[in-house]
Amino acid sequence: MRLRVQPGGVLAGTLRVPGDKSISHRALMLAAVAHGDSRLTGLLEGEDVVATRRALVAAGADIRTQADGSVLVRGRGPAQLRSPAAAVDLGNSGTSIRLLTGLAAGIGLTVTFVGDASLMRRPMRRVIEPLARMGAQVQCSAAGTPPVHVHAAGPLCGIDYTLPVASAQVKSAILLAGLFARGATRVTEPLASRDHTERMLAHFGAGPTVDGLTVCVPGFARLRGGDLAVPGDISSAAFFLVGAAIAPGSRVRMPGVGVNPTRTGILELLAAMGARVHAGAARSLGSEPVADLEAESGPLHGIAVPEQAVPRSIDEFPALMIAAACAEGETRVSGAAELRVKESDRIAAMAEGLAVLGVETQPSADGIVVRGGPLRGGVVDSRGDHRVAMAFAMAALRASGPIEILGCENVATSFPGFAAAAAGLGLRIEALER
Ligand code: S3P
Repeated sequence: MRLRVQPGGVLAGTLRVPGDKSISHRALMLAAVAHGDSRLTGLLEGEDVVATRRALVAAGADIRTQADGSVLVRGRGPAQLRSPAAAVDLGNSGTSIRLLTGLAAGIGLTVTFVGDASLMRRPMRRVIEPLARMGAQVQCSAAGTPPVHVHAAGPLCGIDYTLPVASAQVKSAILLAGLFARGATRVTEPLASRDHTERMLAHFGAGPTVDGLTVCVPGFARLRGGDLAVPGDISSAAFFLVGAAIAPGSRVRMPGVGVNPTRTGILELLAAMGARVHAGAARSLGSEPVADLEAESGPLHGIAVPEQAVPRSIDEFPALMIAAACAEGETRVSGAAELRVKESDRIAAMAEGLAVLGVETQPSADGIVVRGGPLRGGVVDSRGDHRVAMAFAMAALRASGPIEILGCENVATSFPGFAAAAAGLGLRIEALER
């Protein structure tokens, strides 16, 4: 699937962004191992979350969509789950494979996880190594990538583990395994990554203790099912924050978006660039803070992105690089080597696409320098990466010619209906099947 976007235009209006992907995965997983019913509302219906749901159903979880669109999970504790008969295909979803590997190892299931070409390249040793220290038996390919084979072992043992890089996926995989282990499990991060797992565990009555950058879960935990509402995804909102910021005359409002402080790096970075972004009407929803986001156009200038902001905005770099391309001066990113092992190598994918549009960049091992300047049209390869595709769609607002983006099927992993939502706000975008 390709996206073709005509140049120029204005973004204006109100948009309800789909449910948060990270929170949706965790809600299904925790509800499936809890005792009692959980009614989940606002869940993302993107393919990644569908992959998690399918995997849980393959393991015997009782998950049903209700007439009102909510999802009812009838949890009967981890013991209700059993080893799936066949290998489980998790598509493009890194969060599914990391977190479900931890959960399966903790519960003691035997299962094989596979995925699409991108997922089959994602590093898994970062999860397998700490799980092995807990006594889990998990194997991957010689290159450290899927397929991942989890073999049922006896109860794991809690560990005290320090993550080499800040990663919520790795932290969560260890915590999910630790929930059913003997003894406490303690994880320390070098920098704060998203804490949705910790918040949701508290919501489901298995409160972890958090001390600075260390989180601890007790072993043999018992989760209590309960209702949970999922906020809008700030990572999906980010494309429209950037689009509104760069397109003169724009103004976009997005109500009910999650503003967990471990996710709001993009608001601070755009504000530092001079963007007019605003989070109002702060309130809480489920286990998370939410707000109504607004963005308006205005002149932007380049910044040096502080390294401690990187984990708090890790998925927003494709969008941020488009803002940087439209800003005056240079934007410098460093300490972001993780961008090279996301759904694509996002440093390479963005540098290559920006070059097509006539924007000068200087990629490095752990970051990139983007020099703002005029954008022309052209054909850009998203490398099958949903966030790269959506970022380049926004670039058309400031380009002198149409931008065509190749390989956009995976936009539906995180933002089903993206093209229609963007068109509704004024982007001149069409989805072409071939
Ligand atoms: C996620 C964590 C991040 C992020 C991913 C979702 C999560 O990955 O990039 O899209 O839901 O925990 P890392 O934890 O590997 O940085």
